[in-house]
Amino acid sequence: MSGFRVDPYEKGWMLASAAILLLFLLAVAASAFYGFSLPGHEGRVAPGRSAVEPPFANPLVVERGPGRYEAYLRAQVWAFVPNEIRVPAGSTVTFYLTSPDVQHGFLIERTNVNVMVVPGQVSKITSRFDEPGEYRFLCQEYCGLAHHVMFGKVVVEPRS
Ligand code: CUA
Repeated sequence: MSGFRVDPYEKGWMLASAAILLLFLLAVAASAFYGFSLPGHEGRVAPGRSAVEPPFANPLVVERGPGRYEAYLRAQVWAFVPNEIRVPAGSTVTFYLTSPDVQHGFLIERTNVNVMVVPGQVSKITSRFDEPGEYRFLCQEYCGLAHHVMFGKVVVEPRS
């Protein structure tokens, strides 16, 4: 192996590549402890039936414990049902969404919430709302003519 030699420039690039990979790994590990939430695949709804099956037939927000809420929403052409959700500041909200028609999306500004909503499937994602105010949400998957009017808001009310 007397002829084996790595050029200093090549060595530099190899070290830089390894450092970048390590940095990405650390970023993933760190975000796992700071509210990183992958969209989960929670279950299935028979295609076309999400508009009639509970809890999506009458979408609602349920309090499951102190400051813990579950919100059930339908994303459909071309609205969210419901299109307004109210929770007190400091709440952790788990969203469950499904679609009775075509593929939609659900993105809430200033949060980690950004999921696709696929017909026949239930998407699940959790976020915490500490700051009072309005957090608009919208459909971020093109779903037809009135895609652009598909929006709503989470109203986070100050604690009294
Ligand atoms: Cu629903 Cu775009």
